[in-house]
Amino acid sequence: MMNKPVTKMKSMQESAGRAFVFSLRSVQFGVVDLAAATDFFSGPWGLEVLARTPGSVYLRAAGGGDCAIGLHQRDKTEVLRADFRAASRAALEERHAALRAAGVQCSEVEPLSEPGGGYGLTFRDPDGRSLLLVAEDAQEATGSPRRDAPLKLSHLVLNSPQPQVLEDFYAGALGFRVVDRTRKMFFLNCNSDHHTIAVVPSDVTTLHHLAFELGGFDAVMRGIGRMRDAGYSIGWGVGRHGPGNNIFAYFSGYEGLPLEYTAEVQQIDETYAPGSVEKWVPTPGRNDQWGAAGPPSDELKKAEHRVMFSAEPFAAPAAS
Ligand SMILES: [Fe+2]
Repeated sequence: MMNKPVTKMKSMQESAGRAFVFSLRSVQFGVVDLAAATDFFSGPWGLEVLARTPGSVYLRAAGGGDCAIGLHQRDKTEVLRADFRAASRAALEERHAALRAAGVQCSEVEPLSEPGGGYGLTFRDPDGRSLLLVAEDAQEATGSPRRDAPLKLSHLVLNSPQPQVLEDFYAGALGFRVVDRTRKMFFLNCNSDHHTIAVVPSDVTTLHHLAFELGGFDAVMRGIGRMRDAGYSIGWGVGRHGPGNNIFAYFSGYEGLPLEYTAEVQQIDETYAPGSVEKWVPTPGRNDQWGAAGPPSDELKKAEHRVMFSAEPFAAPAAS
C-alpha cells in the first residue's frame, strides 16, 4: 500500500538529521486466551496490570511510563500493532505531513481512546505491519517497586523478506540509524539504547522477538527462575550478545510468543561508529561473547518465525 518513495524518505531523514521516534512504547498482541495470557504476563513475566477494557488488558513495566503491552482477545496469536513514542503532538503533525508527502497512507493525528490517552498517528510499514506513533499520553512518574521485574520494552526484532525496503522505510520515515550489521541481521537506533528495532532477512513477515529490559544480571537470573518455576525453560541463553553488548535469555513464552529478557544494553550517542558485517564475524563455536549460551532450541527457532502481524485494522476498545 505504500512502498513507493523510499528515496524521498531517505532525503527527508538526511535533511532532518535526527530520529523522529523517542522509544518503543508498547506492543499490542492478539491472544487466544486473554485470561491465561494476562496471568502469564502479570505472573512469571513480571508486568503489572494497568487497565482492563472489554476484551483487552493493558500491562505496564516497573520502570515507570505507561502501557508496555496490550493483550486483546482474538482467535489467534498475533501482533496487532507496534507503538512508538514521539516528542509531541506537533511532532506527530510534522510526521503526518512528511509521510503523506512520501506517499504513505496514514490516519489523521487523532486523540487516542486507549488507556493513557494522548494523540496518535497510525500507518503501516512496507511489510504491512500496523504502527502507531503516540505523543502526549499519560506517563506514570514512578514505576512499580516490584523486584526484578522488566523495567521497559527494550527492542522489537522483525523478520522481513525485503530488508532493504524496511531499512529505507524505518531510516527514512522514522529517522532510525543503522548502527551495526551482522551476517544475520541489522540494528536500528533511535535513542541512547544501542538498538530499538532490528531486522532479520527472512522468507516470512513475522515477529522475531520482543525484548524487555531488566535492571541487571541478577534480575535476569531471577526472571529466569520465575519462568522456570512456571514451566518455561530458556530457549537461548544466558549469554551476552556482540552488537549491543547486552545480556540475553530467550523464551518461547505463553502461546509461543518469542520473548527476551535483556540487561546492560550498550548506551551510545551519535559518535558511535557503525559496525560492518566484517567487524561482527562470530567466533567459531561461540553463540555469544561468553561461550555460555549454546545454540537456540528448536522450539525457540519456531517461535521466532510463526507469529504474524495482523492485516486487520487495529481498533482498541475505549478506556472506561
Ligand atoms: Fe534481542
